[in-house]
Amino acid sequence: MLKLPLSRIRLAISEQLPQLPQLKNIYHALEVPSKKQQQPMLQWILPATIAQHENELLELVKNQQFDATYIEKVQVLPSVGRTAAKVEFHLQPDAFVKHVLHEELRATPTAVSSAEHIVVEYSSPNIAKPFHVGHLRSTIIGNVLANLHQYLGYRTTRLNYLGDWGTQFGLLALGVQLGNVTDSQMRDAPIETLYKAYVDANKAAAENAELAQKARDLFSALEAGSDATMAKQWQLYREYTIAELTNVYERLGVHFDSYEWESQYSQRDISEVLQSLRTAGLLQREQDGREIVVMNERRVPVIKSDGSTLYLARDIAAVLERQRRLKFSRMLYVVDNGQADHFNALFHTAVGLDQSLSNKLEHVKFGRIHGMSTRHGKAIFLRDVLDEARDVMREKRSQSATTRSNSCLDDEHVCDILGVSAVIVNVLKQRRQRDHEFSWQQALQVNGDTGIKLQYTHCRLHSLLENFTHVSLADIEPSWQQLAQEPADALDVFYELARFEQCVWQSQQQLEACVLVNYLFGLCNATSRALKRLPVKQETSAAKQMQRLLLFHAAKRTLQQGMQLLGLKPLNQM
Ligand code: ARG
Repeated sequence: MLKLPLSRIRLAISEQLPQLPQLKNIYHALEVPSKKQQQPMLQWILPATIAQHENELLELVKNQQFDATYIEKVQVLPSVGRTAAKVEFHLQPDAFVKHVLHEELRATPTAVSSAEHIVVEYSSPNIAKPFHVGHLRSTIIGNVLANLHQYLGYRTTRLNYLGDWGTQFGLLALGVQLGNVTDSQMRDAPIETLYKAYVDANKAAAENAELAQKARDLFSALEAGSDATMAKQWQLYREYTIAELTNVYERLGVHFDSYEWESQYSQRDISEVLQSLRTAGLLQREQDGREIVVMNERRVPVIKSDGSTLYLARDIAAVLERQRRLKFSRMLYVVDNGQADHFNALFHTAVGLDQSLSNKLEHVKFGRIHGMSTRHGKAIFLRDVLDEARDVMREKRSQSATTRSNSCLDDEHVCDILGVSAVIVNVLKQRRQRDHEFSWQQALQVNGDTGIKLQYTHCRLHSLLENFTHVSLADIEPSWQQLAQEPADALDVFYELARFEQCVWQSQQQLEACVLVNYLFGLCNATSRALKRLPVKQETSAAKQMQRLLLFHAAKRTLQQGMQLLGLKPLNQM
């Protein structure tokens, strides 16, 4: 069940229209205009793609009967010059307020067929290398995209595809041997320990050809599966790594349905795939024995001359295997811009092998973040970034005169949530593809467009509502007339609330979390103004007081829902 404002009204409109392909998405395309109108309405702007059917469609809509409990009048406005045609559905004002403000009216069946199965692959760090800021961005963006799809009723599967394979892992194995790494070291700090082993071995191998050869041999043994002890050890490292990552993901409000590994697709297991690639004529053999895929005159290697697999080969095998196992209708890979060529080659090859994959695979790219480091130097591990966020927050709070010391609050916990909120919102507030300069100063402001602002507004709403827990909100009848008589700030908040659902939808359609983030900033700004202008506790008219309460209650619930979609944990006190 979805809980979205106006969903019943949307359904009432879309169900009363004939089932034409052009009208298929009308449920979501109905929008509350962003500028306040005298008359409450949902408008449908005809997309350019169906402009040639304009007359037909408008005629159809004009002659249709709509449910009078919701719709007062339908107005059809044909296109003029470059302005697209639109249909205005004028709403019954009281039905409109009720459907935005009353919770139980929000519950309606989903508009999306649950047969749509979306796989989102995100985070996907490598176990021998630090979890860098690119992985952080992938983790945060991927999580929101999965949340949005799930919320809108799609079946959603969240995958983390960890890099644990490739020749560099011979170096890692060498580093573990050279450094006499103990099992307990590995268990306590797997990511740092593996990274250190890798760095040390890299250095050693650069200076010593024999060691370099040893690393290659170790990897061959691993790939051939001929060394049982080593394979077992490898398995253990993976488990430790997952344990540590899960802990960090938990702080970020992120989880996965499944952890998958590049090593699942090593040489032994993908020979069939390679064979079909050859049969389909998709692989070319180079003079030196490598096998490559050619795409737009770029030659991307798949198999090395010694027969071992490369990143691309494993990804090809993984798509096919996921397709069989998960039967997805769409798969999103949330990975930085830098891998665009890789994904082009991957999609080209995968579709070449299996036509049914065309249009199902998408590389959700994003730009770089600069400047996200700790004050002590560079942040290389994700945990450092999160700890830094928490510490900066703690310092800021201790300096701030307005922070009341409140013993019932677990300060550490609150600082951590605030710090993480700041980082998440800072990452999400720009369009994905933009490169982005990170500054702690900016990310942690209460008054700027930050995660702190979202948390702060949520806390204010919570503390206001705490005074009225005895009131049964379900018994209050929302009234358009009362709302319209209030200072304009009330309608501002109301219209923001009415736009929630369409912003969620647009965010999902564009795969851009910033649409939702910016919406939430707007909601917070309108709410702060309304909190100033529309006192609740001091209001003497009971009727007015109840209407305001209803409005702020809906604001809190909507903000909370939006924050959870972003992966934030809404605080009640800070
Ligand atoms: N582990 C890779 C890296 O850190 C990212 C993996 C992205 N996903 C994929 N299916 N290739 O660069």
